Order: sequence, then structure tokens, then C-alpha cells
Amino acid sequence: MQHRQSLNTCRAVLALTCWALSPTMGLAQEASVWDGVYTKVQAESGKRLFTTHCIACHSDEPGGVSGHGPAPSVIGKDFNFRWVDTSIADLFDVIRQTMPQAAPNSLSSQEYADITAYLLQINAFPTGSALLDPSDRERMLQTYIDATPPKG
Ligand code: HEC
Repeated sequence: MQHRQSLNTCRAVLALTCWALSPTMGLAQEASVWDGVYTKVQAESGKRLFTTHCIACHSDEPGGVSGHGPAPSVIGKDFNFRWVDTSIADLFDVIRQTMPQAAPNSLSSQEYADITAYLLQINAFPTGSALLDPSDRERMLQTYIDATPPKG
């Protein structure tokens, strides 16, 4: 009986400690692209970069085909099919590590983040007040590309 009680006290203390620590440890901080994870100005920069480095192969118009080989569309249902339920970090990494096709990783991390922001914009995800910051890896990993806005 005595033993049981101290075990329960012990459990309660543990639970309280975990609850108190979880915000600082970054646990359960999942976010969604519907929260507004890039700025309008950033997407404008991304549009300029996309026009210079990407548009020759990838159209930014729904249903648009640029006609330079088999480059997939990066907008609409093709974008959703490939990217829904992945994180911003996944999208950013694929772009940085593989694009532009002839010169992967040739732009700065901030430029790749701006292009990522532009892709979010043309796919109708909302702008927000904070930059999509490539140095905040944790946040990019925990921000998911959800097909529809989260409920509530
Ligand atoms: C020379 C043509 C070319 C250029 C320029 C180019 N891409 Fe690509 N891209 C491709 C091809 C071909 C594929 C498909 C094969 C692959 O995934 O490597 C592709 C694949 C992709 C994918 C994955 C598509 C998906 O959803 O499955 C993304 C995202 C992408 N490119 C973004 C970009 C961005 C952003 C730029 C500019 C920084 C860019 N590409 C420049 C040809 C190009």
C-alpha cells in the first residue's frame, strides 16, 4: 500500500516534469502550411528566382506545360499528389539537392527558401508574418503540407 502510493506520486511528478519541459524541448509543435509560414515579399522574391531558374522547364500556370522535356508540373493536383503529407523540409531539400536540373544546390539556402515560398503561394497556401527561414530546420521539419486547412 505504502509502496503503491509512492509509485503513484512518482508517476505524477514525472508527468508534470514532462508537461513542463515539452515546450522547451520542442515536442508536439507540429504546424501546417495553412498557418501562414512564408511572407508575401518572400514569395515575390521566389517568383523572380523561379522565372530565372525554373520556368523554362516548370510552368507556374495550372495545366501549363513549358515544353522542355519531362519536367513535372509544380502546381495543382500534380503538386498535391507528390507533396501532400510531407514536410516543408522535404520539399526544400528536393529542390535544393536536385534543382535546377543542370546545377543542383547552386543557389543560396535563402533563395531556395524563397522559391519554396513561391511554390506554396501558387498552390494557394496563405501568406503570414514570418519568413520561411531555412536555418530553422526544426520548424521546417515539423511544418506539414496538408491538403486542407486543419479543423478548429
Ligand atoms: C532543365 C529543366 C529543369 C529546370 C531548369 C528545373 N527543373 Fe525541376 N525538374 C525537372 C525534371 C526533368 C524533373 C523530374 C525529374 C526529377 O525529379 O529529377 C524535375 C523535378 C522537379 C521537382 C519534383 C517534382 C515533383 O513534384 O515530382 C520539383 C519540386 C522541381 N523540379 C522544382 C524545380 C525548381 C524550383 C527549379 C528552379 C530552381 C527547377 N525545378 C528547375 C527539370 C527542370
